[in-house]
Amino acid sequence: MRRIAILTAGGDTPALNATIYGAVNRANALRIEVYGIIKGFSGVLNPRLPHVHLNPLFMTIPELTPGLGGTILGASRDYVNPEDTTTLKQVAHRLSRMGIEGLICIGGDGTINGMQPLAEFIPTVLAPKTIDNDLGLNYAEEATEWLRETGSNGRASYRKLQGRDEISLDDLVNYATPGYATAVYVAASGIQRVRTTAESHRRIAIIEVMGRDSGYIALGSAYGQPDIILIPEAPLDELALVERVREVYDLQKHVVIVVGEGVRDASGQPLGTLSRSVDPAGNIIFSGAAEHLKQIIGDSLGDEYFVSKRRNESANSAIFTRKLGHTQRGGRPILFDRFHAAQLGSKAVEILAEGQTNMVVTLQWNRERGFHVDAIPAFRLRDQWGIIHPRQVHRSLYDAVRFQPSRLGVEFLMPIFTNAIGADDMEEVRAHLFHPGNLTNRFHSVNVDIQKRIRLLSPAASGESGA
Ligand code: F6P
Repeated sequence: MRRIAILTAGGDTPALNATIYGAVNRANALRIEVYGIIKGFSGVLNPRLPHVHLNPLFMTIPELTPGLGGTILGASRDYVNPEDTTTLKQVAHRLSRMGIEGLICIGGDGTINGMQPLAEFIPTVLAPKTIDNDLGLNYAEEATEWLRETGSNGRASYRKLQGRDEISLDDLVNYATPGYATAVYVAASGIQRVRTTAESHRRIAIIEVMGRDSGYIALGSAYGQPDIILIPEAPLDELALVERVREVYDLQKHVVIVVGEGVRDASGQPLGTLSRSVDPAGNIIFSGAAEHLKQIIGDSLGDEYFVSKRRNESANSAIFTRKLGHTQRGGRPILFDRFHAAQLGSKAVEILAEGQTNMVVTLQWNRERGFHVDAIPAFRLRDQWGIIHPRQVHRSLYDAVRFQPSRLGVEFLMPIFTNAIGADDMEEVRAHLFHPGNLTNRFHSVNVDIQKRIRLLSPAASGESGA
């Protein structure tokens, strides 16, 4: 294998450059050229196939550093339509004209869907990433534990079957995805900071974290010691919640609540999704879970509760909501993410070089070996109808009575986070955040440098007209 391509698709994560870095370093050792495709699948759909040579003379370009958040290649939520064989053939033709013999896609479930039809034409491997930690399985056979139901509108919907009551952490397929640890680091730090202001002003803080239908970020935010954690996998018991809020508020005069954005009510409906708007990949855009919770708690406790305690004039002023938002997805990846993302990138190159295709590299953990990389065929993540469902926090990891991680949940988190932050992560803050140069120098975007390296396939070579 002499030349491969790599792209980053879907929402970005802090560890994408680390994965690309690991892949390029391994490719250097194997004397394989790596071309980075600009802006995910939208790059391969572009007849000019914008790309950057990431290792001229088998040396990694200086813009590619594992500590830089985001992706130097750019990302998009555009995907290749598997039904559109004409476009698929054009993409394959473009890649082969460029001498590409294998493709690494860094992404989540949507990216596998975009990658799989291309695997008919060119060897492909997925290196996972997602802050949501939802690309994986709690145990291998979980992939097919789904029921398909067809609604009166003819649309299929999927319901998760009960499955195993207990899981073993050794059985998790893809224990943690690059980006997750950094997102939790941001969430936990944010919660610690909100805590002291809620404490001083005797308020109830509701902090909404990302994760879509999966509550892993909310679960991990336990490191910030919120009083109550609500995850999408456990339908909301309003009475129990309000009761717990009252208990905690009576005791300590403030409450910190973390809510996963996809949290559901008792009937299974997302709490805050005001409209069923979707992004280009078909994902529901979650909005407003924290606001909805505020309403529930405020209505239940009423102004008189706060007035009677002489703490706030109304429920509205006593309860505040904050979304941590995209801070969870941005910035420098912490050590855990950098290290394992690079290993996954490296493994992806090895898999391609071995001649395997349509594979997903995974980060495994077991008691004997700790973390190590492995690979599985992509279809193992699909159900019997070919759908990849987001992995959910298994019920044995969450204690719905205490609104906290269960004992097993704590055991799940510890291998990831105990040494997740490197000394250099803290040194980076110390040395760079208040560097005087930040006040006087304009921010220099890596996009400016990468732009100078972008090459296009000539229209003649692409065999297609228009850019
Ligand atoms: O899937 C990653 C994720 O960050 C989710 O946690 C979140 O709901 C979504 O992407 C946000 O997407 P966008 O950046 O398109 O708003």
